[in-house]
Amino acid sequence: MVSGGRRLSGSVMVGGAKNSALKLMAAALLAEGTTVIENVPRIVDCLTMGEVLEHLGAGVQWEGSTLTIDTSNAAGVETPYELVRKMRASIIVLGPLLARHGRARVAMPGGCNIGSRKIDLHVRGFERMGVQFSSEHGYLEATAPSLRGAFVTLDFPSVGATENLLMAAVGATGRTVIENAAREPEIQDLAGMLVEMGAKIDGAGSTAIEIEGVDGFEPVRHRTIPDRVEAGTFALAACITQGDVMLEDARADHLDLVLDKLNDAGAQIEAGERSIRVSMPERALAVDLVTLPYPGFPTDLQPQIMSLLSVARGTSILTENVFESRFMFVDELNRMGADIRTEGHHAVIRGMDRLSAAPVRALDIRAGAAMIIAALAADGTTEVFDLYHVDRGYEDFDARLAALGADVHREREPSPAGLA
Ligand code: UD1
Repeated sequence: MVSGGRRLSGSVMVGGAKNSALKLMAAALLAEGTTVIENVPRIVDCLTMGEVLEHLGAGVQWEGSTLTIDTSNAAGVETPYELVRKMRASIIVLGPLLARHGRARVAMPGGCNIGSRKIDLHVRGFERMGVQFSSEHGYLEATAPSLRGAFVTLDFPSVGATENLLMAAVGATGRTVIENAAREPEIQDLAGMLVEMGAKIDGAGSTAIEIEGVDGFEPVRHRTIPDRVEAGTFALAACITQGDVMLEDARADHLDLVLDKLNDAGAQIEAGERSIRVSMPERALAVDLVTLPYPGFPTDLQPQIMSLLSVARGTSILTENVFESRFMFVDELNRMGADIRTEGHHAVIRGMDRLSAAPVRALDIRAGAAMIIAALAADGTTEVFDLYHVDRGYEDFDARLAALGADVHREREPSPAGLA
């Protein structure tokens, strides 16, 4: 339950990046021994990835936000449907399993709430490296008697495909080049850890990554980068309440375009070395934006900024270029009095003077955060259902908003089966 109208102020510590931590955890499979990853958010998705590793035979231990992964007995090669169903990013273990064991059996992910999310780019890239695929009973069986380096050009700079191929290539024979690679900071974080483990990688963070395969990897201790999407989410929550919030342990260099857009909307931004202060002195102004792979505006902040623009002065045009069905939450926002029309991958958002509280559903992680942000500015008390989606990506979101002054109260809803 969120009662709107409170101005957010104070400071909030940004956690480790979910989308980095998941891949760093998978990378631990490459080395035999004990890998330690710091600054891992204790969110449902990371717990699920922990279960995936345990299923493969690894020992996984949490101490606060430090995760210890012991792969000494990780001889497994199969990731079952019950885990992939909870989190499709589980397929990221394909790359390291192929590099270490030459085979993997991974349940095929189904659809999800933000689009069909295919894995064809992963598969095609692996095939270039000599991997043979077959599928039966919902499982993808991958075998690579000899994993060899290859030249791979991705049709689209897919984050997951770049990471999966990267983790296979570091253990393949010879040289791999990934062209049209994704450039997200999380990929640089992963490449950084792989290099610490002994991999030879050039160009991570650019559109062409070159990898020279090596024979073995050492377990290391690595710290996850701060979560730019979580930082952006809190920044947008601050802006919609015309608040003033200090984001601690946030990296402005990972949020360039987001901060520019907030600035265009009227926010004042003070970027420090490891912090960002965001304040919004008056009602936001409309801004147009287009989501694109990094360094473009992140699709993972599209729903949250839509909430802000729905109460901005003027009309904004937003174009979603990364996921085909990422406007499904718009109907929920319109139920709160927003005026948003969508056509294909464009949305026209006419800023309203106010939103009004209504019962709404969290349709996915980021759409759920967007509902809560909208509720912070709405008249009355909004009830947000299906919060388990939000728990997949944000640690204690309600408590941290409350610490900034929001009137947020959580009633525990029963989790769906398997998401305890
Ligand atoms: C990752 C992030 C997600 C973010 C997305 C884009 C994780 C765990 N998740 O997801 O939060 O929103 O990057 O920044 O890191 N595609 C294909 N074929 C493929 C792979 C992707 O067509 O084989 C398409 C997808 O359907 C989508 C687009 O490419 O339309 C982007 O997907 P991708 O970059 O792969 O996203 P994920 O790695 O799944």
